[in-house]
Amino acid sequence: MANRGNFGSKIGVVLAAAGSAVGLGNVWRFPTEVGNNGGAAFILIYLACVIFIGMPVMISEFVIGRSTHANTITAFRKLAPGSWWRIGGIEGVFVAFFIFCYYIVVSGWTLHYTVASLTNHLSADQDYKAYFQNFVGSTWEPVVYAVVFMLMVHFVIVRGVERGIEKASKLMMPMLLLIIAVLVICSFSMSGFTDGVSFLLRPDFSKVTPSVVLSAVGQAFYSLSLAMGCLCTYASYFSPNTNLMKTAFSVGMIDTCIAVLCGFIIFPAVFSVPGVEANEGPGLVFITLPHVFNIAFHNVPIIGYVFSTLFYLLLMLSALTSAISLHEPVTAYIHEEWHVSRRRAAWMVTFGCILLGIACSLSMGIWNDYQIAGLCLFDLFDFISAKIILPLGGIIICLFVGWRLDRQLVYAEVTNHGNLRIRLFRLYIFLVRWVAPLAIGIIFIDQLFR
Ligand code: PHE
Repeated sequence: MANRGNFGSKIGVVLAAAGSAVGLGNVWRFPTEVGNNGGAAFILIYLACVIFIGMPVMISEFVIGRSTHANTITAFRKLAPGSWWRIGGIEGVFVAFFIFCYYIVVSGWTLHYTVASLTNHLSADQDYKAYFQNFVGSTWEPVVYAVVFMLMVHFVIVRGVERGIEKASKLMMPMLLLIIAVLVICSFSMSGFTDGVSFLLRPDFSKVTPSVVLSAVGQAFYSLSLAMGCLCTYASYFSPNTNLMKTAFSVGMIDTCIAVLCGFIIFPAVFSVPGVEANEGPGLVFITLPHVFNIAFHNVPIIGYVFSTLFYLLLMLSALTSAISLHEPVTAYIHEEWHVSRRRAAWMVTFGCILLGIACSLSMGIWNDYQIAGLCLFDLFDFISAKIILPLGGIIICLFVGWRLDRQLVYAEVTNHGNLRIRLFRLYIFLVRWVAPLAIGIIFIDQLFR
């Protein structure tokens, strides 16, 4: 492993990990969860979940990755040779691959909407629902966009860790922050600003039920990119003096702040147009928002044009940095374990994902009739990876680091071999042994029987 890549700077480490975390989950899922589940009350609960469950799991992934300097599968094997714990690593790489296959399909949509907005195709008064359904259900168009998107990811990955992933993160994350700043400032001037912000921030504790707490944990897990081998693989490129706890804290905070700021962009826009419902997911960003942007800026179409183009660019960039982090665990594994060059490993992943991605994309259109257990391929991938394998992976990571790994090794990693004074170590161990696995276990069972 002597010639493995490494991140060259502290800021590169934070931006790459934050790039993985900040994604579609921040832009389209978080604001709606907040709006539906008690506004600021949800934000507080979410913050607690990030701090007490998300961060301990993230630190644990960092420990596994950095202590071994290896891809996720090899990492588990090195730490617990010949044991069943290696399933933890296999889970990470597999789930990254499968999530990646459909993540690029949605990412392709974001690329399409960026192009459509830039070329002024989203500004006409039209039925945006039909527009979206025609696009997604058509055979070639979404496939072409997914492939182009995939090649962008590939281009970054083949350049390696420092010249590819780190450089791309250092370029794209500031761009992303700048776009968010511009959009938030624009949204101040919208007629629905006060209503939108009070919808988002009014704490309504009466809406907080056990299931709301569970969705907060689930959202934290997804949003922080945990249990997919992504952060574990990135950590294997950290330098010996990267402060793991501080990095996890920065990533968690950046991710949460960006999620809240996205709410400041979306809700004022939605509340500026009477009669529009803030629904969730693809419906919100691909159907409701184009309509809203169009109407909200009816008087000054040029601002509408800029706003909508920047918004879709934001969505696409956030998907891009996340997609890069999904490609890397699989590429690193193939490169290191199958002994092929990094370039060839990256091509294998890209090619495999394109094939499965095409199948996922077609399953929303002409292949929609082929279903397993009532789900098309796209939904099936989502269900199996996000709802089943992911929580199991999270539990394995907690149990592995909390119960199986030598405490001295964990302490040495977290304190950089005694060079850092870490006062919260015991709290971290307690969280990772008890709180996080139990919380994830409860969500898992809840989601399975929902
Ligand atoms: N964390 C990303 C988001 O918020 C999703 C993601 C999951 C990215 C897994 C990479 C890996 O959208």
